Amino acid sequence: MARSGGIKSTRSGKIATPIHFVTAAGWGGFRKGLPAVVVAQAEANKFSGQPGRHLVASGQDGTPIVLFGVDEADVEGRDPFLAGKLVGLLGQGDYRFANEPPGGKPAVAEAALGWALGSYRFTRYRKAGDPLPVLQPPDGVDHARVKRIAEGVALARDLINTPANDMGPEALEKAAMAVARRYRAKARVIRGDALLHQNFPLIHAVGRAGPQAPRLVDFIWGPARAPRITLVGKGVCFDTGGLDIKPSAAMLMMKKDMAGAATALGLAQMIMDAKLKVRLRVLLPIVENSVSSNSFRPGDVYPSRKGITVEIGNTDAEGRLILADALALGDDEAPELICDFATLTGAARVAMGPDLPPFYCTDDSLAADIANYGMKVSDPVWRLPLWKPYESMLASKIADTNNVSSGPFAGSITAALFLKKFVSKAKAWAHFDIYAWNPTSRPGRPDGAEAQTARLLYEMFEQKYC
Ligand code: BES
Ligand code: MN
Ligand code: ZN
Repeated sequence: MARSGGIKSTRSGKIATPIHFVTAAGWGGFRKGLPAVVVAQAEANKFSGQPGRHLVASGQDGTPIVLFGVDEADVEGRDPFLAGKLVGLLGQGDYRFANEPPGGKPAVAEAALGWALGSYRFTRYRKAGDPLPVLQPPDGVDHARVKRIAEGVALARDLINTPANDMGPEALEKAAMAVARRYRAKARVIRGDALLHQNFPLIHAVGRAGPQAPRLVDFIWGPARAPRITLVGKGVCFDTGGLDIKPSAAMLMMKKDMAGAATALGLAQMIMDAKLKVRLRVLLPIVENSVSSNSFRPGDVYPSRKGITVEIGNTDAEGRLILADALALGDDEAPELICDFATLTGAARVAMGPDLPPFYCTDDSLAADIANYGMKVSDPVWRLPLWKPYESMLASKIADTNNVSSGPFAGSITAALFLKKFVSKAKAWAHFDIYAWNPTSRPGRPDGAEAQTARLLYEMFEQKYC
């Protein structure tokens, strides 16, 4: 289902319509170089390089030219993907960038990526509207890289957008195994009661009531001696809340509760496609959190892979349970870094809103890198603390820990503190509490599923392990 998105070389002989980037400040000078007919059309349309505005004009010989207003490179809050807006503004046809936007080569690459990311459409259940405009790969931009990132993001978006009736545990396992196979990773899947026999009690407890068996996908790629990076993704294909059932408004969006797994998979695809010098491991605990006579119950106590016993304070805090067993497995081989991705808490949304996922990290210098790369590639995240004193909120009277806090406070932090109990040997651990959804469309970010944090981590790994 993934697509490269709107950037293709045009067939030879075909003329691509030029797109000229222009700023409001630069307009006065720019217009002097334009044919009088184009200037007249700009004036008639009150176009003077306002950021985000476009003009499709007829040139001297009647051939079209596009003018597009963008910000100066140093404007605060400038959207590097603004050119992605053109995908929704321009008609079908072939286009090319005629000049560089302010910021030079890097800005051209950002504009191209914005175009590619903005060309994503979820077309599984109905045809997209009019065919989208197609951009010629701009000169000097690493097109294979743009395509790699856009395809990784599109893969994650497709998986997240697909509803649970077509993206249950079987379908998600299939999608993960297809990626593993394409890059010749060494893969295994542990399903159903085998999870009990192989000591994944929490994944089994959460997923046992689902119509499709719970499972753990585990694949390994790359040279054994390269730095070990492990990605863990929450794969709850649908979260009813379990016996602590969610009200309808809260349940409505819960097809996206496997977004952590989808994000890990999209990122893994980028890493493998780029052949980064890492030994990558991907762990995806995949379940449905369902209501049935064999659902796990509030008050139940389960052992975990790590040996810590867990009292179930709330069956709706299921993500941290399945992650706990997957993290414990990943932690066993003491990797360089474990990253986990999860639509883990409503509290993270209350604190940060939909567009700024909080993350938690055991290593200060790595945390600074993560935050900086997020800003650099417009995939922003914000660090929250693993605030040790709040660990007491997870206390249980009969087990080593409860799965939820006893109080209403700091829900995202206490969830992170719960996960931290299952990571002890990895050199570093980063946890991303993502929302994975664009409530409204922005340039390069069509409404619906989003692969938050995948681009930022790809950028960071590319810098460190190229
Ligand atoms: N999947 C949800 C969290 C969620 C809700 C993410 C809405 C994105 C949007 C998670 O499994 C959950 O239900 N968490 C509970 C935890 C609570 C019971 C401690 C929550 O946040 O309410
Ligand atoms: Mn839940
Ligand atoms: Zn959930």
